[in-house]
Amino acid sequence: MTSSSVSAPVSDVDLFAGDVLADPYAAYRSWRDAGPVVKSSVHPIWIVARYADVRAALADWQSFTSAQGVALTDEMNAPMIGSVLGTDPPEHDALRSVLTEKLAPRALAKLRGDIAERADALVAEVVARGSFDAVTELAQRLPVDVVADLIGLPAEGREHLLSGADAVFASFGPLDGRMQARMPQFMAYIQYIQSFDSKDKFTPGSWGAAVFDAVEDGRLTPESGMQLLNAYLVAGMDTTVNAISAYIRFLAEDPELWAALKADPSLVASGFEETLRLESPAQGFFRNTTRDVDVDGVLVPAGSRVLLSFGAANRDERHYPDPDRFDVRRNPVDHLAFGYAVHGCAGQGLARIEAQALIGSLLRRVDRIELAGEAVQHEHPVVRGLGSLPVTVVPAREG
Ligand code: HEM
Repeated sequence: MTSSSVSAPVSDVDLFAGDVLADPYAAYRSWRDAGPVVKSSVHPIWIVARYADVRAALADWQSFTSAQGVALTDEMNAPMIGSVLGTDPPEHDALRSVLTEKLAPRALAKLRGDIAERADALVAEVVARGSFDAVTELAQRLPVDVVADLIGLPAEGREHLLSGADAVFASFGPLDGRMQARMPQFMAYIQYIQSFDSKDKFTPGSWGAAVFDAVEDGRLTPESGMQLLNAYLVAGMDTTVNAISAYIRFLAEDPELWAALKADPSLVASGFEETLRLESPAQGFFRNTTRDVDVDGVLVPAGSRVLLSFGAANRDERHYPDPDRFDVRRNPVDHLAFGYAVHGCAGQGLARIEAQALIGSLLRRVDRIELAGEAVQHEHPVVRGLGSLPVTVVPAREG
């Protein structure tokens, strides 16, 4: 704390109200404009929404700890403590190192061809139909199969993965009616993953087998092994699905953007970063302050729960000029949609490969894409994304 610290402005916006979740960007702007940090009068939290402050807080894990959990409520933070998301260095680094090699650039390079083939087969199938739902019939299919195969899960039971990830992420928010409604899928998912309790349940050479090797040689306890698997399973599902769906929506709504990418497919990667910036699937996670912290002149007392709003930071006009505009040439690789620093997303390379493969294949196989109905937002307290995106396509002549 510095002598210049002042108290924070108060916001009475309920960030979990349905209308705010549907379109949170006006609220985000009001928080950024109010100051470097605002105090919520609705939930017992503080909110950091400006790009520079969110990034600085993510880097300062000593002051903004993850070791008390990254969810809103004590009830849901308790089971998270000790997991890869819910630890600080050095415990965190030991957990994260178990699968580092599997997600290193060399390992990912080997997956690229296979993922491109799978993506292309999925795209070929839906394009042949002419009209399809780009969320349920396309975006939802690739990440589930890719991640489940990498973890080494049998085909049977995978129907629990998407709905389970949805419920687990919802538990990071308020324990309200919305969460109550997800309890059956939450419980079914927990029961499903608890059945993977030994190495022989996983494909040889898989991530799951590597985690159980670490349990066998004492690097992990059986409990932390299960927590680690759960983290990789949950984190790699609807996050990637939602990012891909949002990208397809931008393309279907903007013929000029589609034409630009058709003319120069090397823009696909930059377009994906811009999608992540504008429609960040993980809108924000919490931290807890370990001491009095000065956030750009405003005091946040020790023991405060703080929302680091990635979604707000990524539209901060202090960092990105004309922040609400999709600019396919912006290539904002410093966005915070994957977090930053020690907890920065472990699967970001994989997510990029999946999305680029799918969009690349769409561009090759389709001449025109248009919305065929209303894009429907899926109401979720933490993960932003569409539930449905009906589109029609005109197949490419040579495709
Ligand atoms: C577009 C897709 C994705 C988005 C937007 C995303 C977003 C994020 C964010 C924001 C964090 C930081 C959490 C924090 O700071 O507390 C994170 C962490 C993590 N992500 Fe991702 N993620 C994506 C895909 C994936 C995939 C495909 C995997 C793996 C299969 C994955 C695995 C993880 C793991 C294990 C962590 C925890 C890292 C740690 O705590 O050290 N993610 N992700």
